[in-house]
Amino acid sequence: MRTVEDEQEAFRVRTKKSAKAWETAKRCTPFGVHSNYRLLDPYPVYVHRAKGSRIWDVDGNEYIDFNMAFGALVAGHSHPVLAKAIQERVANGTIFGFEGEDAAPLAAHMAKRFSVDRIKFSNTGLEGTLFSIRLARGVTGRTKIMKFEGCYHGSHDALMVSIKPTPDREGDPRRPTPVPSSKGLVPQLTKNTVIAPFNDLEATEALVRENADDLAGIILEPIPMNMGFILPKPGFLEGLRDLADDTGAVLIFDEVKTCGKWYGGAQEAFGVEPDVKVFGKAIGGGFPLSAVGGKADIMDQVVPGQIAHAGTFNANPVSMAAGLVTLTKILTPAAMKRAQGIGDSLAKGYIDVIEDHHLFMKVQYAGISGTVHFTHKPVVDWRSFQGVDVARWGNCNTAMLNRGVIPMATGPDEQWTCSVAHTKADVERHLAAFEEVAEMIKQVQPEMPLVEAI
Ligand SMILES: Cc1ncc(COP(=O)(O)O)c(C=O)c1O
Repeated sequence: MRTVEDEQEAFRVRTKKSAKAWETAKRCTPFGVHSNYRLLDPYPVYVHRAKGSRIWDVDGNEYIDFNMAFGALVAGHSHPVLAKAIQERVANGTIFGFEGEDAAPLAAHMAKRFSVDRIKFSNTGLEGTLFSIRLARGVTGRTKIMKFEGCYHGSHDALMVSIKPTPDREGDPRRPTPVPSSKGLVPQLTKNTVIAPFNDLEATEALVRENADDLAGIILEPIPMNMGFILPKPGFLEGLRDLADDTGAVLIFDEVKTCGKWYGGAQEAFGVEPDVKVFGKAIGGGFPLSAVGGKADIMDQVVPGQIAHAGTFNANPVSMAAGLVTLTKILTPAAMKRAQGIGDSLAKGYIDVIEDHHLFMKVQYAGISGTVHFTHKPVVDWRSFQGVDVARWGNCNTAMLNRGVIPMATGPDEQWTCSVAHTKADVERHLAAFEEVAEMIKQVQPEMPLVEAI
């Protein structure tokens, strides 16, 4: 059996060109990456090309990719139908400074598919959630926004609060202290952000009632996927809907990740209808595309002189063509169902290996995505996520990469994504690699503690 040190050495030997690329990149770019989430220990992998469920790094190593660009590639890498449509699009103009032909049919498709009345397009999830907050403030005339501890909504100031607060700063679990997640934020932003504990409806209700007169909106990921994979407890989303109705706050579901997990997004999975939804990642099939959708009475206030919305690249023809082909031709109901079957078999396979080897881990999943939390306790919120053993996760990740599998992403706060390109054979190879790694993980895990009820 290989040790942790053997795996680290094997990784360095296999990825010499990535190490070199990192040194070059660091000359002009802090840390050598253009999104800090791409950092990896000991250095990031640099990629040459990708196709279907596969990625090849600059050293020529092939991986089965279950990160899929942090969930943006439910359509798989370079789907042939998408690639053809984009080639045609690019040959006929990439941006006009006028509206193109594809935005209206794409908006109509998305409105029906995701049960919203109106749609406005932008490019990144960040732009979408930023606009959703302005919308909530604009229609209510109030200033405060409630977000949940540990949830991530993109790298913009208003919501860069309490994303990964440390235990010394986070305060009372039922009344978390708003903690800025970056230097450079003005204190007013933190003051106008109310932080609530995910999955604790009673504590959230107390905070909503206390701030009711000023509360413009409540924003959340219906499944928090920036602290692994956390399912909402039964009644939690429904409770938030009732609280928003009672207080007049706008309920916003950040579906940047969840919209690609079921054909109809989170509403299909949980049956709860928010006022506003933010879509991103998977809808563009690998191109930058995001959208805000919502009820007509709210969205129809987005007109000149009332609520502003603008962007040079909004609804650009390339992203529109990509979105239209991805949603209408690739992420069909049948394809999504098949991918969910693949996701189920991966999750169940993980559970079997974990049980067989008595590993100190918890699988949490639904549909095409899930994660292995390196802890014996269920992870239900940010505080329980902090029990995850990051070092052990890293050892496992390195050993999986050495076996040609990208199991999740660059950290334990992410999850796998099974795309329409993945096959049962990909899942079998993923699980075979994990089976090999399991005994190594066992050597470095602490004694299994008694499972405490939480
Ligand atoms: C739930 C959620 N919302 C918003 C964003 C921001 O999206 P983008 O990175 O496209 O700006 C992310 C990105 O990971 C996300 O996971």
